[in-house]
Amino acid sequence: MRTTPRIGLPKGRLSDQAIGLLARAGIRAETENGSRRLTFPDSSGRFEFVSLKPIDIPVYVGSGALDAGIVGSDVVREVGADVLEPLDLRIGLCRMVLAAPAGRSLAFDDHVRIATKYPRTAERHFRSKQSHVEIVRLEGSVEIAPLLGLADAIVDLVETGQTLRENGLVVLEDVEKVSAKLIVNRTAMKTRAAALNSLIAELDAVIYANP
Ligand code: PRP
Repeated sequence: MRTTPRIGLPKGRLSDQAIGLLARAGIRAETENGSRRLTFPDSSGRFEFVSLKPIDIPVYVGSGALDAGIVGSDVVREVGADVLEPLDLRIGLCRMVLAAPAGRSLAFDDHVRIATKYPRTAERHFRSKQSHVEIVRLEGSVEIAPLLGLADAIVDLVETGQTLRENGLVVLEDVEKVSAKLIVNRTAMKTRAAALNSLIAELDAVIYANP
C-alpha cells in the first residue's frame, strides 16, 4: 500500500497562501519554476502534492483518490463532498455575498435571475429565505452579468471589494463567511493516521501560535 499521503493543492488565488502556510510549517511544496508537472513531492519526501482546480479537490478527497487537500470552504459547501474538516487554515478569508447594481432593489416576488459560480450554495441560500429565483450558472467574471443584462444580481466572493466597486455593484446581504480548510478523506484518516495527524498538528502549531 502507498504510504506517502497524497494532498491536493489549489491552483489560482489560494495557491500562494497555501504554499506559504505549508512553508511556515517546514513543508516545502513548490514545483520547479516553469514546471507543468501536476504531482510533486515535498522536499522531505513525506507527502506527495497534486496541483488541481479547487472545485475538483473535494471530489478527489471524497473518493479517496487523494488523502487530503487544501481548499476554500465555499468550494467544499458547493461540492457537498463527504470529507472531514479537521482544521480551519485562517487563509483565503473572504465572504460570499448577494450583490446587485447600485440603486437597484430586488423584489423577490418578481422573477429574479442570479448569476453565480456557486449554484448549489445560492439555491440553498434563497430556499432558506423562501425566495424563488432563477440561477444562471457561470464559470467566472460573474460581476459583468448584471451590466450586460444576463442577470439581476450575483452571488459571488468578495475579498477586497474592488471587483464589485469597479463594476458598479453593491452588497445587498451576506451569504456565508469563507476561509480555507484542510479536508481529509474519512478512510485515510484511519489508514494514514500517523502522517495525517502530524500534518494537522504541524499546521495547527503555526496557525494558532500567532492568532
Ligand atoms: C474572485 C471572485 C470575485 C473576485 C473578488 O474571482 O469571484 O470576482 O475574486 O475579489 P475582490 O473583492 O478582491 O475584488 P477570481 O479572481 O477568482 O476570478 P474569476 O471571477 O474568474 O473566478
